[in-house]
Amino acid sequence: MLDGGRRAVFVRVASFVTLLVPISVTAQVPSTPREMYTAWCAGCHAEDGTGQVAVRTVTVEPMDFTDCSVTTPEPDADWEIVIAQGGPVAGLSSQMPGYGDALGQDQIHALIGYIRTFCSEPSWPLGNLNFSVPIFTEKAFPENEVKIRPSVSHNDDDLKIKAVYERRVGARGQVEVSVPWQMNVPDSVTASTGLGDVSLGAKYVLHADRASTRIFSGAVEVKMPSGSESRGLGGGTTVLEPSLLAGFALRHFTLQTQLKLEVPIKGAGEATELIYNIHAGRDFSGLPSAWSLGVELNGVDDRLALTPQLRKGLTKTGALAAAWGVRIPVVNRQHQQMQWVGYLLWEYRDPVRAAP
Ligand code: HEC
Repeated sequence: MLDGGRRAVFVRVASFVTLLVPISVTAQVPSTPREMYTAWCAGCHAEDGTGQVAVRTVTVEPMDFTDCSVTTPEPDADWEIVIAQGGPVAGLSSQMPGYGDALGQDQIHALIGYIRTFCSEPSWPLGNLNFSVPIFTEKAFPENEVKIRPSVSHNDDDLKIKAVYERRVGARGQVEVSVPWQMNVPDSVTASTGLGDVSLGAKYVLHADRASTRIFSGAVEVKMPSGSESRGLGGGTTVLEPSLLAGFALRHFTLQTQLKLEVPIKGAGEATELIYNIHAGRDFSGLPSAWSLGVELNGVDDRLALTPQLRKGLTKTGALAAAWGVRIPVVNRQHQQMQWVGYLLWEYRDPVRAAP
């Protein structure tokens, strides 16, 4: 006979054994990415990745993994953290559970690789090449973004604000409009407040490797003489601005470069300018709200400046972000001013707040 305590232990062990037996005998532990996805993810994300399931258990509709325009801009690092820790860590719904206790890093990588196969058009560059936006260096990755870029010169409080609207077109293209505004300089004779030279631009991704280590784009802008030249607000001539943009992922660092020519179309005596920007940066986590640290080398012909900068995602989703920096003249300093620079950006296709 068993006494009470022993019987309880016996019953517990026995029921544990009966629980285990059917699992080990009948159920195969999913091992291939497809099996894992079917077993653990398809209930909400659907077998075909669209999120359209017959019996919905969640109230928030997950993103359609077959829609390249929404999945490809997302970097793997972001998804890794969401799959491991659940939706709220990246400002998404808590209805996306975290699997970090149950799944290893390799399994999570394999699942992301599998989710990536739902977008069947390889022409879309992957979000792993969607590096943090530098203050001056134009990005190679196309964006759906609105940017407000203020700059204040240190000596005479000359304030310039540029509003930039960018919109993606197809898998690799982007168009943009940029509208500068300049505020009064109290002790200057010529400058005053008003609209500057508005520019229209287009960008196209020429190459983005699938291993996500490098991206190259070509861009062209046309700057129009909308700002008053006599009041010091504009250049007075149309300027054609072709540029080459590149981005490289080097372990935890990113390198972004821009080489641009500013060619005045008419107006004899106006010289072509060469502009080159190089940004080296590092993000401190894969989260959209991460801090990033960077430094830029900014060259305009024979003038050279350095711009150390900090960037921070302002929302967990990364829909809003800000950067601050200071542009410090280093070569040909008498022809440049120290400037406080930065931006506020809004990725208008991302939600600012999480769904519950
Ligand atoms: C209980 C339902 C459920 C299960 C199971 C589930 N998910 Fe989700 N998942 C969601 C919901 C809902 C969202 C959208 C959250 C939002 O948009 O706020 C989501 C979002 C995601 C995202 C982020 C997409 C984005 O918006 O950037 C990824 C990646 C993801 N899930 C992967 C997985 C993987 C991999 C599995 C299986 C291991 C899985 N999910 C299992 C419900 C689920």
